[in-house]
Amino acid sequence: FQPKTMAGKRILVTAGPTFEAIDPVRGITNLSSGKMGYAVARAAREAGAEVLLISGPTALPTPYGVQRVNVQSAQQMHDAVMAAVEGQHVFVAVAAVADWRVANSSAQKMKKKGDGSVPELKFEQNPDILATVAARTSLAGHPYCVGFAAESENLLEYGAVKREKKGIPLLVGNIGHHTFGQDDNTIILFDENGHTILPRADKLTLARQLVCEISKRIDKYSLF
Ligand code: C5P
Repeated sequence: FQPKTMAGKRILVTAGPTFEAIDPVRGITNLSSGKMGYAVARAAREAGAEVLLISGPTALPTPYGVQRVNVQSAQQMHDAVMAAVEGQHVFVAVAAVADWRVANSSAQKMKKKGDGSVPELKFEQNPDILATVAARTSLAGHPYCVGFAAESENLLEYGAVKREKKGIPLLVGNIGHHTFGQDDNTIILFDENGHTILPRADKLTLARQLVCEISKRIDKYSLF
């Protein structure tokens, strides 16, 4: 049984990787199973929130009671988030969004050349969804924004810096680089007072603890 710490709150969660097409049968993506984001969505729903999950391609079932919108690319995820963010109390960005998309993607399948020459991909930057939402302080009841960071080193230092750079009140750092597709994680919460470590546990346990930590913080923050 989970305490209903999020009753009456609306939460928007992004999860999974994004997929950036090269052509109709090829693309580039990030390593992300979506498990942590789905666990956050499930935990928020258990805590009584109305949850909208905007998900890149994953193999996971939709958590009970959660509304899910499927997207592929970072641009689609950005557009879906922007269309839904107004009126949300909390935005938790867990998705591993591709930083770049293919600028010269092809509408038709690219053919192998007889002379062995290879295609040259050009990239352009994708929008930073979390930073964009965090900067939209004009939104009605601007949501409390939570970001995730997967760093391979110096997490304590980078975590605090990234929180400031993104302009968000809470950043969740993943310890180590062994979490992709795993059920266990260790996370560190960075806020304006410093950091707190949540020791290694399965992702659902950590997600429940995180939702509880968010609920404590929005009590102070919420404009609604
Ligand atoms: O800058 P970096 O990609 O490390 O930041 C990770 C955090 O920012 C995650 O919360 C991720 O969901 C979010 N993000 C985003 N849009 C991007 C890149 C990252 O929302 N284009």
